[in-house]
Amino acid sequence: MWASQRAQGVPTSVFSLMDAALGRARAAGLNVIDLSIGSSDLAPPVQALDALRDATHDPSSYRYPLFSDTRPLREAAAAYLGRRFGVQIDAEREVLPLIGAQEGLAHLLLAVTDPGDTLLLPDPCYPPYLGAAAVAGLNVIPLPLLPERGFLPDLESLPADLRPRVLLLNYPNNPTSAVADAAFFAEAAAWCRARGTLLIHDHPYAELTFGDYHAPSALEAGPDGIVELHSLSKTHHMGGFRVGFAAGDAGAIAALGRVKGAVDFHPYLGIQRAATVALGLPDHLGREGAKVFQERRDALLPALREMGWGVQTPQASMYLWARVPGLTDSVAYAVRVAETTGVALSPGRAFGPGGEGFVRFALVQPPGVLVEAAGRLGEVELTAPAPVLNQTHS
Ligand SMILES: Cc1ncc(COP(=O)(O)O)c(C=O)c1O
Repeated sequence: MWASQRAQGVPTSVFSLMDAALGRARAAGLNVIDLSIGSSDLAPPVQALDALRDATHDPSSYRYPLFSDTRPLREAAAAYLGRRFGVQIDAEREVLPLIGAQEGLAHLLLAVTDPGDTLLLPDPCYPPYLGAAAVAGLNVIPLPLLPERGFLPDLESLPADLRPRVLLLNYPNNPTSAVADAAFFAEAAAWCRARGTLLIHDHPYAELTFGDYHAPSALEAGPDGIVELHSLSKTHHMGGFRVGFAAGDAGAIAALGRVKGAVDFHPYLGIQRAATVALGLPDHLGREGAKVFQERRDALLPALREMGWGVQTPQASMYLWARVPGLTDSVAYAVRVAETTGVALSPGRAFGPGGEGFVRFALVQPPGVLVEAAGRLGEVELTAPAPVLNQTHS
């Protein structure tokens, strides 16, 4: 009775189905291996934890944090962008702390669009994007990410008169693990600028990169008409701390600040101090965490390929995105896998129609556990056997 049209427009998460299936697996005594949610199992940098601990005993951290109190984190964010990507950002006008990138995106869409505006959204995509678009009342146009194009969108194939208010991109990508180079972002920025479209780049996997690969920033194309969302959830394993930042176009950042001013008071100062310390740490520390995910990738890939599943070798992120030959209902399959083996995967359909036929593994367990999970999958049929009809009632 009290749910608004807006609330009703937010799609229900497939993950609640998975949660229920895992509950049944536990009740049946199965040993559960949860690879469904991309929440890092590694510890945050100890320096960040120390900063937070010290802050909790510092009474000056207890008050509501005002904008001026966010200056150290804004400066640390600008310094990180300069050091890591060669991007010059004004810490006063072009950066704003977030309570995570997810919060940032939802409020940014409210800040820069009006109901009925058009959002060009990748399919498949991180599922909360759809909820954020529904809350903002946006008209979503799906942008297919196809394996044959390396899961990069083909902007040039879109109708010449299409002028979306926002284009949302995310590389390294969830769920496909695809990466994009600086030339791709330069082209996307030019495409947007020619149409008066704001480019939002969601960049939580910026440091979860493997080998010699370094992810670029969309802001390398200049901040005008671009906002990039950064998060410490994956790069510094601080998902539960809920902290990140938005950087880019001064007008869009100011609009975001206005909307957030009606909603929150910025993250707790202790969290801001922890994030400030984390962003100032030498970059190689972040890559040590990434190495752990690379080892896991290398353990799981051969096991999946042996089963005949199609998986590209990702250069970044914490996922394997596998095309399962013959799979037509990934949600039913993932539920059956969870119930019968205790292994929780993300069904590709959870990320949009373009994800059907795929499943996503979050590399959030040690290599041996991942291989064990793959072994259990081999026991499950791709499609459920047809129900046996009870002849006496026919
Ligand atoms: C693409 C993408 N954006 C945003 C988030 C959430 O980031 P945060 O924890 O900063 O809200 C995730 C988490 O999985 C993600 O995959």
